[in-house]
Amino acid sequence: MLRYLTAGESHGHSLTSIVEGLPSGIPLTEEYINIQLARRQSGYGRGGRMQIEKDTARITAGVRGGLTTGGPVCLVVENRDWANWSETMSPGTDANTADRVVTKARPGHADLAGAIKYNHQDIRNVLERASARETAARVAAGTTGRALVEQFGIKITGHVVKIGKASASVEKLGVEEIRELSSGSELLCADPAAEELMIQEIDRTRKEGDSLGGVFEIIVTGLPVGLGSYAHYDRKLDGRLAQAMMSIQAIKGVEIGIGFRAGELPGSQVHDELFYDRVRGFYRNTNRAGGLEGGVTNGEPLVLRAVMKPIPTLYKPLQSVDLQTKDSYQAAVERSDVCAVPAAAVVGEAVVAFEIARAMAEKFGGDSLAEMKRNYDSYIEYVKRV
Ligand SMILES: Cc1cc2nc3c(=O)[nH]c(=O)nc-3n(C[C@H](O)[C@H](O)[C@H](O)COP(=O)(O)O)c2cc1C
Repeated sequence: MLRYLTAGESHGHSLTSIVEGLPSGIPLTEEYINIQLARRQSGYGRGGRMQIEKDTARITAGVRGGLTTGGPVCLVVENRDWANWSETMSPGTDANTADRVVTKARPGHADLAGAIKYNHQDIRNVLERASARETAARVAAGTTGRALVEQFGIKITGHVVKIGKASASVEKLGVEEIRELSSGSELLCADPAAEELMIQEIDRTRKEGDSLGGVFEIIVTGLPVGLGSYAHYDRKLDGRLAQAMMSIQAIKGVEIGIGFRAGELPGSQVHDELFYDRVRGFYRNTNRAGGLEGGVTNGEPLVLRAVMKPIPTLYKPLQSVDLQTKDSYQAAVERSDVCAVPAAAVVGEAVVAFEIARAMAEKFGGDSLAEMKRNYDSYIEYVKRV
C-alpha cells in the first residue's frame, strides 16, 4: 500500500513527509520536487511570508543514485524563519512558551474549536499545525506520486478558472493548450483576458483590506481504464479524490466532470453516450462524467474542480472573542495572503497525483518499477483485445 504522513509546524524547525510503499527504480531528485515547491510559492496575491519561504526539499532516505530503493522516502523542508522562532517553538523544557502566546481566536480558522478540543490555553499550539504551511509537506509527498505516474505517461495539469467574479473561458482549449498557457501565467490561468480581470479584482480587494477565493481545475490525462473500484465505498476513486481535495485547507467543495450542473440538466444532457469503432475501440464523444463512472476511471481525462473560500485572515478586522478573557475584539492582521488560489491549485495537483499513484500501485502492484510496468503492459494488451 502506498501512503504518506506529514509532520511539522508552521514556525517549527521543518516539515517532514514520509512516503511508504513506492516501488524501487523510480527516478526521483530534490530538483524535481523543488520545481513543485517553487510553484506552490508563486502566484499574484501572496503575502509577506512567501518572501521568507524559499522552500527546498532534502531527500534524507529511500533514494540512492537518483532512484527510489523501495524503502520509505523521507523528505525534509526546513522552515527558513526557524532562527527567529527556536526559543518559542523549542520541543525542550527550555522553550519560552510564554512568548508569542495567542489567545485571540481568528474566525474562519481552526483556532477556537481546536483549542477547546485539545485543551490548549495558547492557540499557537493549534494554528502552528492547522496552517496551510503544511501544504508544503503535501506537495513534497505528492510529487513522489507524480514521479511514479509520469513513468506511465500520466500527466497532471492544474489551472485557475475563477477568482472572485472573474472567470476564465477555457471550453474551447485542449489540455495541452491549457497547460502551456497557464504555466506562463502569474495566476496559473489559461485565459489572459480573464487573468487581467482577476489581477484587478485582487488589487481592489487588497485595497479594501479584504480577501478572495476562487475555483481551480485539475485535469489528468493518460489514465488507463479501470483504476479504483465500484465494489466497495472506500475503493471508489471519486470518493478518494474528493477526500484528498477537501482535506486541503480552505477547500469547500469539489466537483467531478460537470459536477453541480448535473443537478439542473436532464439526463440526456448529462450522460456520455458510448460508441465503438474497430480502430478506436470503445469511445465517447463527450466527457461530462469527468473520466469516472461508478468510482472507476473510464479512460477519458479526469476533470476535477475545487472551490477555495477567501483567505480568513483579513486586514479589515472581523469580530471575534479572546479565549481567556472572553472579551470581544477586532481580529486584524499585519501579513497574510489576499488570494492563494494558484497555490491551492498546485497543492491540488499534488494530492491528486498521490491518489492516482495509489490507485496505480493497487491495480498494477509490483515492488519495482520494472515489475509494475510488466503488469501494466499486460493489462493494456488485454484491454486492447476487449
Ligand atoms: C495555499 C494556501 C495558502 C493559504 N494561506 C493563508 C493565509 O495566508 N492566511 C490565512 O488566514 N489562511 C490561509 N489559508 C487558508 C487557511 O489555512 C484555512 O482556511 C484554515 O486553516 C481553516 O481551514 P478550513 O478553511 O479548511 O476550514 C491558505 C490555504 C491554502 C491552501
